[in-house]
Amino acid sequence: MNMSRNFVSTCSILLLILVGCDCQTGTSLTEPKLTAVIPLNSTALSVSWEFASSQLDQSDLIRVTIDFYEFFTNYGSNLTSRNYVFTPSNRTITSIVENFQYVNIFYYVCFSSNSTSTSISNFLYLRTCRLVRTCSRANPSICPQNGFTIATPSTITSNSFIITVHWLNNLPYIRDATIVKLAGNGATGTPLASSTNSTYTSLPFQFTGLQSQTSYTVDIFGNFTLFGSSLTNMTSLSVTTSRSSNLVYTGNIASFVLWSVLLSWLFS
Ligand SMILES: *[C@@H]1O[C@H](CO)[C@@H](O)[C@H](O)[C@H]1NC(C)=O
Ligand SMILES: *[C@@H]1O[C@H](CO)[C@@H](O)[C@H](O)[C@H]1NC(C)=O
Ligand SMILES: *[C@@H]1O[C@H](CO)[C@@H](O)[C@H](O)[C@H]1NC(C)=O
Ligand SMILES: *[C@@H]1O[C@H](CO)[C@@H](O)[C@H](O)[C@H]1NC(C)=O
Ligand SMILES: *[C@@H]1O[C@H](CO)[C@@H](O)[C@H](O)[C@H]1NC(C)=O
Repeated sequence: MNMSRNFVSTCSILLLILVGCDCQTGTSLTEPKLTAVIPLNSTALSVSWEFASSQLDQSDLIRVTIDFYEFFTNYGSNLTSRNYVFTPSNRTITSIVENFQYVNIFYYVCFSSNSTSTSISNFLYLRTCRLVRTCSRANPSICPQNGFTIATPSTITSNSFIITVHWLNNLPYIRDATIVKLAGNGATGTPLASSTNSTYTSLPFQFTGLQSQTSYTVDIFGNFTLFGSSLTNMTSLSVTTSRSSNLVYTGNIASFVLWSVLLSWLFS
């Protein structure tokens, strides 16, 4: 008897706390969260999300729209939209697989949700997007996820190097800032003359006054606007300067030694 009365009052307290929490925050609508957009092979993507715990959420309906903006070099964008309605009883569906026609192509995937309840006049709307690319046809394990930029080091000497950021051309984005900086002190590279060919617009950045035989981490930020959203492609590179010398290091120890010998002979 005592035990069961205790049990009932504990339950009432828990219930009060739960109701109290809802009253305090003023809302009990939650949104599902996009967890992953993964290229499965050369044509298919999987999109996964998770719902908030049903103890927190009082939505009757959650409407989800998944927009796939498909695009590639010299090929205009194409939009595929999928709509889903979730009730509290079928929130067990938390992923879909979408298969497309083209191979190794870019997708800007936007996941939006609108949570509503008959007892609450507000709605909760959120939209989250990801940029991905499907895998190559020849080697389906290679799914390039470097976005629109590739960075390459060149002209490495004992106190300088050049990092070139190559932006893929003829895609429906607007190129904004390109920032290349050293991870340690944040020093930015000096921009040199850019060049363009049919595939890339290449922007070189030079770093000088560096220490010899030192490994530098370079952070590369490629800012761009895609379908109205401002996005950043961030990558890091590790570059090691050559050993100290009056000569430009050619990347070949043998020839470096040969030149040192010749020089000491000339000046002796
Ligand atoms: C890629 O995966 C999807 C989904 O599993 C499948 O329907 C499709 O046939 C696959 N495509 C290729 C080219 O393997
Ligand atoms: C969930 O259930 C509702 C009501 O039965 C239905 O209209 C909706 O299509 C279902 N959603 C999914 C994703 O199966
Ligand atoms: C969300 O759903 C509510 C109720 O149907 C609607 O009034 C509102 O316009 C929707 N919001 C958005 C951003 O779609
Ligand atoms: C580039 O994008 C980053 C990250 O969003 C931002 O912090 C930075 O201010 C942007 N730089 C410029 C010059 O727009
Ligand atoms: C364009 O330039 C890049 C970087 O310099 C180079 O790797 C690529 O081979 C060039 N492509 C063409 C088609 O010339």
